[in-house]
Amino acid sequence: PLGSRVFSGIQPTGVPHLGNYLGALESWVSMQNEYSSVLYSIVDLHSITQPQDPQLLRDNILDMAASLLACGIDPTRSILFQQSVVSEHTELSWILGCLTSMPRLRHLPQWKMKSKQKSEGSVGLYTYPVLQAADILLYKSTHVPVGEDQIQHLELAQDLARIFNNKYGEFFPEPCALLSSTRKIKSLRDPTSKMSKSDSQKLATIFLTDTPEDIVFKIRRAVTDFTSEVTFDPEGRPGVANLVSLHAAVSGQTVEHVVSLARGLDTGKYKNLVAEAVVQRLEPIRLEIQRLREDRGHLKSVLVEGEAKARSLASPVMKEVRKLVGF
Ligand code: ADP
Ligand code: NA
Repeated sequence: PLGSRVFSGIQPTGVPHLGNYLGALESWVSMQNEYSSVLYSIVDLHSITQPQDPQLLRDNILDMAASLLACGIDPTRSILFQQSVVSEHTELSWILGCLTSMPRLRHLPQWKMKSKQKSEGSVGLYTYPVLQAADILLYKSTHVPVGEDQIQHLELAQDLARIFNNKYGEFFPEPCALLSSTRKIKSLRDPTSKMSKSDSQKLATIFLTDTPEDIVFKIRRAVTDFTSEVTFDPEGRPGVANLVSLHAAVSGQTVEHVVSLARGLDTGKYKNLVAEAVVQRLEPIRLEIQRLREDRGHLKSVLVEGEAKARSLASPVMKEVRKLVGF
């Protein structure tokens, strides 16, 4: 749509996995054609709400840039940039934080999930959704692709736009959610939980940098059950259903079609078919990541260009905000 602006971010915490790709990045790529302006940010400020090793973080930022480019993010059609270098993000975050009450943040999912793992969570982890609201509003974004787990965070951004506008006059558009497909890819080892980069079982997650051998190895060891026929029954047979979903997603075919291809195969043989389809989809991406990783100069120059474009949008907005607030 004309005048639309998409914003989304991804943390530089390692190479994306197949769930990230099919659940988020694939649609990021197509949004480049569907919206008049799109911004994708490598949100390093968000990532330090968990402990990070500085050298590893630096590498992960470039790695994420390589992964996004390899997936099809095109810096001539979108603004790809590193969050922390555009300092307006932190500045707006402070101002929005002053409009947010403590209880409003207490029940948000990120805090509830991650602060439980330690005896005390940090202030940064607590106010993470305020920074997320700042990321979105700073560009007067109209559309935000989110996973189901992030809806409450987007609602905070919508609330803060309203609160700011009520106090200082109509300024921020209320961003609307673009709910990413409900297509959740499950862990290969525990098909009742989602595929995740933090899964402690190395065989559970397929990463975009996995070689064909890695992929075959992991899929051959995916949990199924004692029935040999291939059917799609997510409740009763979550492991087999996950393989079918995966197969359908990577090959762009319907679940029904994929099940019909598997007719006559037992689940063991079917795994070869799934692995082949996954390899076919991921191999060009893996090779491109590998190529880009060796060209750090290029990756840095892409990010420098993105920084300039992002700042040229953020800085006039922030100037207005300062005036409205009374600075
Ligand atoms: P992780 O759980 O691996 O840390 P994130 O929470 O950083 O992944 O998610 C980044 C994006 O990828 C989000 O938009 C999220 O909805 C999507 N995503 C993550 N895991 C999956 C999955 N298993 N299936 C589909 N989408 C996923
Ligand atoms: Na997340």
